[in-house]
Order: sequence, then structure tokens, then C-alpha cells
Amino acid sequence: MMLEINTVKELREAIGPEKAKGKKIGFVPTMGYFHEGHLALMREAKNRAGIVVVSIFVNPTQFGPNEDLDKYPRDLERDRGLAEGAGVDILFVPSAAEMYPDGYATYVEVAGDIADVLCGRSRPGHFRGVATIVAKLLNIVMPDAAFFGEKDWQQLVVIKRMVHDINMDVEIVGIPTVREADGLAMSSRNAYLNPKEREAALILSRALRLAHDIVKGGERDAARLSKALQGYIRAEKHVELEYLEVCDPESLAPVDKIAADTLVAVAAKIGKARLIDNTIIHVGGS
Ligand code: PAF
Repeated sequence: MMLEINTVKELREAIGPEKAKGKKIGFVPTMGYFHEGHLALMREAKNRAGIVVVSIFVNPTQFGPNEDLDKYPRDLERDRGLAEGAGVDILFVPSAAEMYPDGYATYVEVAGDIADVLCGRSRPGHFRGVATIVAKLLNIVMPDAAFFGEKDWQQLVVIKRMVHDINMDVEIVGIPTVREADGLAMSSRNAYLNPKEREAALILSRALRLAHDIVKGGERDAARLSKALQGYIRAEKHVELEYLEVCDPESLAPVDKIAADTLVAVAAKIGKARLIDNTIIHVGGS
């Protein structure tokens, strides 16, 4: 039976005895409204750990003032059933007051380029909010491993950097993006799309597939690749391209030449949804 817990104190009381028995703890932090991408994280956590803890918390500090915090989709009833079906042992659903009580004053910030580029440019403060809540949750759950989707590639890089820099004793595991049959990356925000927008959104995953084809065809110049892909996306009138960048997967710095593993990352507005996607192109024997 899955346990549902709302307070930090009760969560620690539930996890402590399991750790004392020598059980490994796998942790999946989420904002809920589960799809197959979340379930893939939970299943992998279940494969690797004796006890799986999943949190559902729509974290206010990672949303900007004009973003979709209030509208972010929520369905706790459905999420409970899906988590239980995926073998989750403990569902942690704290309130905002539990995570950020009156007088809360501490934030974790990964300084420098990896948090400022790509999504960091249009969402100032976003990764500070993510790093803060993830640091808090990792301190509360103290898992052996925590699982994050590679769809949020930059988030994964930021979290790995934070964990490394402040010596947190946890393995951060990235799990490949789960896609719909037609290629659309799964995202809770896909719920915002009407059928026409849903169709238009396919341009993002198609552009990423095209990136692989172009590089397979011999292109190694990042600026030319980027220009071709931007043109391809801009031809879709329902899609407002925010960025398409060709960069190093670890430093997130733009590259000139595609000579090693290369990240192609894209963000776009489609109707009310801001969607992101990415792919890694493997070249040069890497
Ligand atoms: O990826 C998400 O759902 C969120 O950014 C996370 C990691 C749960 C932090 O709120």
C-alpha cells in the first residue's frame, strides 16, 4: 500500500526505519499531472531502489510573475492511482506553507552560464527556484539516487552541478525523454494545446530529427545547422520560436563545430504552452 504524507516530519519518520533496515531510497521529484515520462522515472527508481519516494509539489519559486503557476495542471486523484500502479511506496505532497513557511529566506543558486543561458535567459530566477526546491527535497528525503527527465536537459545539468558543488551525497540519474507515438515529447504542459496547436507542436521533434539527418549528411558547422533548423520551425505559423541552440551538452556553451556530442535544444510558445525539447547528436566516435 502506498503511503501518502504531507509533512516533512512524517516523511522523515517513514523513511528513517527503511534506511535503518538497509533499504536503498530512490526519489522522483515532480510537479504532478503524471504522464509516461514521470512513470518511466518511477519505474527506473523501482528497478534500482527498495523504497521509492515521489514528491508532488508545484513549486512557486520556479515560476515567474507572468507564468502559469495558477494554471499549471493538477489532478492528485489520478496521480495517486498512477503512482501506486508504478510501485511507488511513499507519495509526498507538501503544501506551499510546509515547504516555504513564514520567514523562509534561503535560496540555492547555481551561478554562471549554465543557469543563465537557454531557458535561463527568458525565465530569470527559474533555476534558482528549481535548485532551491530540489536541494530542500534532497535534504528531506536523503535518497541514494534521484531521477530526472532528460527533456529538461538544462535542469539536469544545473542539478548535477549543484549536487557536485555542495557535496550532496546522492546519485543524479537522467532518464531519456518519453515521446508520444508521433514524436511529441511528453510534458504536463501539452494539456494546454488545442488540436491545431498539438499538430503544430510536432515541428519541434521533427526539427530535432532533421538535425540528426543534416549532421548525418555531413554538416559540421553549428551556425548553418542552427539556421536551417530555425527556418524550418519558423515556417510553422502557430509556433513562436524562443530559441534553438547548438551547444555543448555539459557546459551548455554554444559550439562552432559539431565535432563531439552536441546538444540541440529548442524552446517555443505554441498557444498558451511554452514547450521545450532537445536531442544529443553523437559524432566523432563519441
Ligand atoms: O521537473 C520538474 O517537474 C520540476 O522542475 C522539479 C524538478 C520537480 C522541481 O520543482
